[in-house]
Amino acid sequence: MKKIAILCSGGDVSGMNAALKRFVEYALLKKMQPYFIEHGYEGMIDDHIYPVGYKEVAGIITKGGTIIKSARSKRFLEKHYRTQALKNLKAHGIEGVVVLGGDGSFKGMQKLSQESDISFSGIPATIDNDIAGTEYCLGVDTALNIIKNAIDAIRDTASSFDRAFVIETMGRECGYLALVSALTSGAELCLIPEIPYDLHTYKERFLREKSAGRDYFVAIVSEALDQTQTLVTWFEKEIGIESRATVLGHVQRGGNPTVYDRLMAYRFVTHAIDGLLEGRKDAVICYNDGGFGYRSIEDVAFVDYMIPEELLLLGKEYGIKEGTTGTSPV
Ligand code: F6P
Repeated sequence: MKKIAILCSGGDVSGMNAALKRFVEYALLKKMQPYFIEHGYEGMIDDHIYPVGYKEVAGIITKGGTIIKSARSKRFLEKHYRTQALKNLKAHGIEGVVVLGGDGSFKGMQKLSQESDISFSGIPATIDNDIAGTEYCLGVDTALNIIKNAIDAIRDTASSFDRAFVIETMGRECGYLALVSALTSGAELCLIPEIPYDLHTYKERFLREKSAGRDYFVAIVSEALDQTQTLVTWFEKEIGIESRATVLGHVQRGGNPTVYDRLMAYRFVTHAIDGLLEGRKDAVICYNDGGFGYRSIEDVAFVDYMIPEELLLLGKEYGIKEGTTGTSPV
């Protein structure tokens, strides 16, 4: 293999630039010419593909986002655009492509692999941490730290003003970000789609705590539930406390990548390139039990992600804290 390329697809994450840096450096070390593909699969179709060297990746490790940009491509679903994309890769003599993205990006990768003899290596990269087959997706640690800082700051103002705050996290259909953030910031309430809940349980406890002196509440809710404003009203009407909503939004997707994400970027990319050199045609690099392995796209992109049971159990305890007399939310 003499020429390999890399692209970022779907929602960007902090750590992608560290991955690009490692990609270029490791490819050159292995005597291959690295290429960048800009704007994900869109750039593959439009031939935004170019060779790169050390200069292009100097000083980028500290930056969030991705210097080669990301995109969600609708055109890619149509065969004639994929044919165009493959023609472009062939014209550059590219034999292997590393794809940073989520399950939609891996489905695209599978199609390209079936329609050509080019090899592909997928790296799970999404703040949602919702990809089956891997415990960790690049960017999650940075997103969780940004959320942690935001919640800690909101707790300060909530306590000064005797208010309830409902903080909405991203995650698409998955409650991972909300659950881990609630647990690690000591939030009083956490609502995610994976755990059924009953607000009566919380009402009883919150009223009791309020009459015992509690003067503010912090609630974390996953965007998947679409309950943020409803909860604000619930706090005001049922608990009798002034309430505000904070939708964290895209602030969760940017920022200076944590040490963990920089290191994970290096490790994911090393395994992705090694996989290509070993002759793997369309593997996804998965991180489990402290080590990396290769999984098929079928096992990763066509299987529903489940939050580990151990974490879910911690989340279920929210509704059944000691002293609660109401029914459990589970
Ligand atoms: O998948 C990453 C993610 O940030 C989700 O958490 C969120 O629902 C979605 O992307 C937002 O997409 P967009 O950036 O297109 O608004």
